[in-house]
Parts: sequence; C-alpha cells; structure tokens
Amino acid sequence: MLELRNLIDKLYEENYLNKDELLELLSRIDDAGRDYLMEKACMTRDRYYGKKVFMRGLVEFTSYCKRRCIYCGINACNRNAQRYRLSMEQILACCKKGHELGYRTFVLQGGEDSFYTDEIIVKIVAAIKKEFPSCAVTLSIGEKDYGSYKRYYDAGAERYLLRHETASKKLYDSLHPGMSFENRIECLWNLKEIGYQVGAGFMVGLPNQTLKDFVEDLCFLKKLKPHMVGIGPFIPHKDTVLASKKAGTVKMTVTLLAIIRLLLPEVLLPATTALGTVDPMGREKGLRAGANVVMPNLSPVGVRKKYALYDGKVCTGEEAAECRSCIDRRIVSVGLIPDMSRGDNILWERKIQ
Ligand code: 5AD
Ligand code: FES
Repeated sequence: MLELRNLIDKLYEENYLNKDELLELLSRIDDAGRDYLMEKACMTRDRYYGKKVFMRGLVEFTSYCKRRCIYCGINACNRNAQRYRLSMEQILACCKKGHELGYRTFVLQGGEDSFYTDEIIVKIVAAIKKEFPSCAVTLSIGEKDYGSYKRYYDAGAERYLLRHETASKKLYDSLHPGMSFENRIECLWNLKEIGYQVGAGFMVGLPNQTLKDFVEDLCFLKKLKPHMVGIGPFIPHKDTVLASKKAGTVKMTVTLLAIIRLLLPEVLLPATTALGTVDPMGREKGLRAGANVVMPNLSPVGVRKKYALYDGKVCTGEEAAECRSCIDRRIVSVGLIPDMSRGDNILWERKIQ
C-alpha cells in the first residue's frame, strides 16, 4: 500500500483513487495529512476557478413537505414544525432584494410540497427569468418525473440541486421510509440528460454511517460527474427520532470536501450552512478545503426560523444585507474573493432548444 502522502499525491495528479485506496485514505488520514490534502484541494480549485467564491441567494419558499425523512425537522410527521408558503409575489420580492444586493443566482428551495404544481413552478421560474434575464435560477424541490423536470428547464431553470443523501442503499432505505433509492438516482441521471447543471451530495456523520459508505458516495459522484456537490454534517433535530444522536464533525466534512475537489476538479462546491452551524468557523474551514460557493439566505426574516431542517441553524435572524456582508468578510478572511457573477460550471453550456 502507498504511504498516505503518496495516496494524496496520486489523487491530486490523477483525480482518481479506487475504492480500496479511498478507504485507506479515509482510515489513515491524520491532522498533518488533512492539511496536505486541503492544500492540494485549494491548489486545484484555484487552477480552475481562481480565488473566486460564488454567491448564491437562497430562497426557502415552503416548509411543507410530504416526505418523512427521519433526520429532517420539516418532515411530514413533525406536528411541531411551523409551516409556511411564500406566494409568487413574495418570492419575486426576495429575488428583487437579492438582485439589488448584487446576486445573479437565485436558488429556490423547499420541501416536497404538492401545493406548488408544475404549472405554478413554471410560472414562478418564467417570472423570475423575465424580470432578471441575466440571472441563473436553481431549483431544489425534490423528486419529480422526467416530464416535470423538462418543463421547468424549458421555462428557464438551468440548475437543479437534489442530494442523493447517501449512496448506500441500505442506509438510504433506513432513513427514507416510503421512498426509493433507485428512483432518486434515476432523477439525478434524468436531470443531467435534460441539460441542467446538477447538484448531488450527501450528509456526513449520519448515525450508522461508516467510512465504507463514504467510499460509496465518492465513487457514485465520480460516476455521475455532477456540476455541483453539496455536503454538510448531519445535525440532529429535537423533534425527530435522531434527536439524541451526535452531529457529524467538521474534520470529516472538510476531509470529504477536499477529496471531492480532487476527484471532480471543476465541481462547484459549497461551504454549507450546516458546516457553519456545527462550528462558528465551519464555512471558513470549508473554503480552506477547496470549497468555492456560499449560499446566503434571502428568505424573509419572518420565516427563516421555520425552515428548520436541524437545530441551531445559523443565519436565521439576519436580514439579507447582513448575511451578504457577513459572508463577504468570511471569504476575504481566508484570502479569497467574493464573486457575484452567475458562476456557471466551466464545463456547462445550455443546450440549444
Ligand atoms: N442535518 C443536516 N442536513 C440536513 N438536511 C436535512 N436534514 C438535515 C439534518 N438534520 C439536508 C439534506 C437535504 C438538504 C436540503 O438539507 O441533505 O438534502
Ligand atoms: Fe448570514 Fe453570517 S451569513 S449572518
């Protein structure tokens, strides 16, 4: 077996390790190895995207969800969850404020809420594109069939986030009653085929998750080649059956971020809010591990706390402008440059319709 450093060098040079090597890397990595890995990850990010960190304005537009994911605070079974829906006018107002602050990407995220029919989603996407033609619209609204994804794309949406959550079928099934692992994976392939910039991703530190499960996640990502990968630590929510479980760690999350940067050099990789929640410096640490995206919140302050996927979420009391300047400062503090452009993946171009 290769020495730890040689494994990291190989990953850096070839953007590939096989399953045994990935497992070896994850089991043997220590603090010095992690520093070396993160250095290589940052060099790789800088080579493809420079020192830029892309800003996405996040609009959490519904806290209703028909799914029952056992880790999630807004799952359908949680009677304590406070539910809200934003109207099209409210969503547009969030985008308008974001646009004035300089954002050129809007991410519409919500639970799987049947109130928003395909027709309504298409209307919302078209209205945003009409008012802000130079901006990118990202959807993050869960599993839909091919035809629905196609309609949103044709209405102007160009990106879609759908984390695979975990690539181990057994673990997936234990976390998602009534859902199908195969269907989720098929959704990701469908999104790619339609022409979206696709974001997959997973949680780190789920109860019963092993290093082998991470190897499955990494191999799946290498195969899917998504344009974006969102990963963050699992954080317990008080009203779920996982309330008493431990949260994922910053160390494991940054290790995986750096490996993903090296496996998929052109990927857009956010330093997530969950990472900023388990550690006040979590997002900075993510950026030091090769991340190059942040997603500050544009949702109306009055609803922020209600979009509670996990306990202790940061950024729920701040106005959009405060989040913008807070995030700016954090990016600059680690020697990077906030970038307000659309920030498309360098491998992507919209398919001609
Ligand atoms: N801890 C961390 N992340 C969570 N998500 C949902 N619930 C939690 C939790 N308790 C993540 C999922 C989902 C994304 C929107 O938020 O990965 O895809
Ligand atoms: Fe929202 Fe810091 S990014 S308060």
